[in-house]
Amino acid sequence: MMHRVLRLGRTRQVSDYLRKIVPGVFLQELCSRPGAIGAICPSSPFLARQMARQIDPGADGLVIELGAGTGAITQALLRRGIAPQRLLVVEHCPAFVARLRKRYPQLNIVHGNAADLGQFVPQGQRVDAIVSSLPLCSLPEPLAQAILQQWQHLLHDHGIAVQFTYNLRRPKWRNFTAARQTASRIVWANLPPASVGTYSFKTEKLAAPLHEHATP
Ligand SMILES: C[S@@+](CC[C@H](N)C(=O)[O-])C[C@H]1O[C@@H](n2cnc3c(N)ncnc32)[C@H](O)[C@@H]1O
Repeated sequence: MMHRVLRLGRTRQVSDYLRKIVPGVFLQELCSRPGAIGAICPSSPFLARQMARQIDPGADGLVIELGAGTGAITQALLRRGIAPQRLLVVEHCPAFVARLRKRYPQLNIVHGNAADLGQFVPQGQRVDAIVSSLPLCSLPEPLAQAILQQWQHLLHDHGIAVQFTYNLRRPKWRNFTAARQTASRIVWANLPPASVGTYSFKTEKLAAPLHEHATP
């Protein structure tokens, strides 16, 4: 009996802890669209900082954040010193968009699909970096491919994409692009631990038109 009470107490502790670190909206979205969320928790501050650290705050091109969710990485990018007018945030889920707009009224937060990224970037605007939390491994393959094509198309020669993955080996989306990984680092203080990769699309500029894509 005592054993059961203790076990119940521990279950409550775990669920209280999860409630504290996982906002209700994240759990709701995770339950209704697990493939499009692709994570059990928002990114930890350690993961967010490691992503933001890859971006040069002194440059002046656009920094695009994709799949901002609850805004953990958005916050790290602002703390890194990225000027709000350099930051464009794209999120597909309306509940996250509403929350992000409330939390960051100074930012340009677009409700849209990352596969349509080119439509949200002003013509002629130099894109320095794409910082992505998109679950590229759990999205439908044609959608992941369409998203990666946008990155190839939009990033300038010295631009970078920063993407994290829970697959600490080689995530399958890497087969959809010949982008070169220029740095990687495992962040253990995240649930689950994640690998942050930095990619260059320099040799992969596309001359071909962009493909049709599926919706997430
Ligand atoms: C791993 S979660 C984001 C975690 C986020 N870093 C946080 O701390 O909350 C992935 C996010 O990508 C968004 N997403 C998925 N597919 C998308 C798409 N095609 N375009 C834009 N956002 C998308 C989801 O709605 C979700 O917010």
